Amino acid sequence: MTDISNVARLSEPLKFAYWVPNVSGGLVVSTIEQRTGWDFDYNKKLARIAENSGFEYALTQTRYAASYGADKQHEATSFSLALLAATERLKVIAAIHPGMWHPGVLAKFIITADHISNGRAAVNIVSGWLKNEFTNFGLEWLEHDERYVRTEEFIKVLRGLWTETEYSQSGKYYNITDFTLQPAPVDVPGRAHPEIFFGGNSTAAQATAGRVADWYFSNGKDLEGFKENIAGVVAAAGETRRGTAGALEALPSLPAPRFGLNGFVIARDSEKEARDTLREIVAKAHKPAVQGFRDAVQEAGASTKDGKGMWADSSFEDLVQYNDGFKTQLIGTPEQIAERIVEYKKIGVNLFLTGYLHFQEEVAAFGQDILPIVRELEADLARTNGTELDLSGTPAANVEVAA
Ligand SMILES: Cc1cc2nc3c(=O)[nH]c(=O)nc-3n(C[C@H](O)[C@H](O)[C@H](O)COP(=O)(O)O)c2cc1C
Repeated sequence: MTDISNVARLSEPLKFAYWVPNVSGGLVVSTIEQRTGWDFDYNKKLARIAENSGFEYALTQTRYAASYGADKQHEATSFSLALLAATERLKVIAAIHPGMWHPGVLAKFIITADHISNGRAAVNIVSGWLKNEFTNFGLEWLEHDERYVRTEEFIKVLRGLWTETEYSQSGKYYNITDFTLQPAPVDVPGRAHPEIFFGGNSTAAQATAGRVADWYFSNGKDLEGFKENIAGVVAAAGETRRGTAGALEALPSLPAPRFGLNGFVIARDSEKEARDTLREIVAKAHKPAVQGFRDAVQEAGASTKDGKGMWADSSFEDLVQYNDGFKTQLIGTPEQIAERIVEYKKIGVNLFLTGYLHFQEEVAAFGQDILPIVRELEADLARTNGTELDLSGTPAANVEVAA
């Protein structure tokens, strides 16, 4: 038996997402060969491969300036919209900085994207990564925990404008008066509005996500690290979503948040080959870029009072994948990776956000070689716990894609 309290959850198949390479340089800051493009044509083909390989989501990145191995970047919301228009089933999650958008403008933009894509638009609210992007634009760079105060208000505005008419909200950062957005988002069964993902690791991030996000995204973590993160989010969700705390009084009761985890996948025929590839990635790291990133993101979690934020405990090797993707250890043969993935399901992961060296080839290989094993293991796990894995509504992983 497993240590899962909520057995019903075991009937729900894991979901899979990939990082959209909309910035140059790939997902590792290394001179190792990466056959990954950042242009739209590459990404259009990748998105089609992904939706035919069992992937349900794609996540774009928001960056505005050359930094740390990414010299060029495409803007996240426009790129997401174009990917939605180029696909049929993929849900595309656009990365958003609250400090750079008014939530009403974004809410309207996403409704339009949602209609163009027949209900497949989503957002990932990120509270700020690189200080210079804000200060060099002349925008205010709030102190770490204060960024999450603004983020919480921002998400409440989004949800309010997506679900209510004549919506009003007054707060420290936003004041909305009697606003109705028409059309409303597409009415998709099982979804109250475009899904709101949220990325961050610090104590303030966990608390905010617990109170207002639909999905909490974590940087890569080992099993123990992820358990700690979940506990923080669940504690905040428990306080507020039961309606006891003040912060969410205006919101209808929200379902419990769900959990996504980042992991960099290195699947090879043998474990040795996979480990050798990891060693090569790290040996060929672009050292000044990794070090520069490390210094810059001290503005993130390490700057908080308890020092618990994202990257606070990341080594040089970890940061070669700048979202700590090696820590999740999706490295080895397809069987080993599938087993590892299901270990995380047992402790509460609902979705894996994945990165690769060679996206097109490896996303297809993930669908072909790893996903079928994951589904078998999930089915076994469900049966052992007295339930059945329900694959209806889950994208198939074996659809032929034209080259
Ligand atoms: C899955 C995920 C995706 C993220 N994507 C971005 C991004 O595209 N742009 C960005 O500036 N920050 C991104 N971040 C980082 C956040 O902006 C922020 O720096 C981080 O969540 C701070 O964490 P902290 O609260 O632990 O300090 C992402 C974080 C996660 C977990």
